[in-house]
Amino acid sequence: MRVDVISVLPEMFEPAMSASMLGIARDRGVLEFHAHDLRTWALPGVHRQVDDAPYGGGPGMVMRPEPLFAAIRAVGALDERPALTILMTPQGVPLSQNLVEKLATHERIVLVCGRYEGVDERVREAVDLEVSIGDYVMTGGELPAMVVVDAVCRLLPGVLGDDESSTDESFSWGLLEYPHYTRPASFEQRDVPAILLSGDHARIASWRREQAVLRTARSRPDLLEAADLSPAERALADQALDTDRTDPEEV
Ligand code: ADE
Repeated sequence: MRVDVISVLPEMFEPAMSASMLGIARDRGVLEFHAHDLRTWALPGVHRQVDDAPYGGGPGMVMRPEPLFAAIRAVGALDERPALTILMTPQGVPLSQNLVEKLATHERIVLVCGRYEGVDERVREAVDLEVSIGDYVMTGGELPAMVVVDAVCRLLPGVLGDDESSTDESFSWGLLEYPHYTRPASFEQRDVPAILLSGDHARIASWRREQAVLRTARSRPDLLEAADLSPAERALADQALDTDRTDPEEV
């Protein structure tokens, strides 16, 4: 897969894109990554301007359409493969594992990073999709774009060593992931659940499923409705909903 990003801070990407799995994916040729400086397409003049004050007044600056349109066109033309062009913005559709899986099927994506108060509304017409990584506002789309690349990249063939490891995890059942343990079997009086040491794979699998249901009921009850649960699992979830909730308002 080829990924291009368009940003006023292209230097932010290299450290993240060369570390860990992303670096391995690039070394293996599974991911081709290019960060482009939006100022290459800045308005003529010494200031290399890419933003301006909003019409109608108000705080902050808005990214002008001309550099963004020019950049999107130029970057799109760098490769024959058709690109899915995505604007990173808090007004976009929420990123989900389902969307990540769809993005991973594309041969090429171009991620456009907004800064300042946002981008001129007309830029929306130059992109195929707008994506938000969550209901909070970041200083720009660069970190959100890295989130997208990271989540997509680990699904590309040959990136995760173990073929199983992306199928048996959070959200793949529509539930949060079950708890994991490793050695030691006992740490400061905290014991690994005995069932995991039992070697009984069928019982371990059903314990994990039950734990995933409980954990989802506690932390993400909104996921339960769409999850494919047996009547017994549904009852377990209802019980947990009555007792054990984590209340984020109490943080
Ligand atoms: N830019 C600023 N905040 C963002 C968010 N939550 N998601 C995507 N892009 C953003």
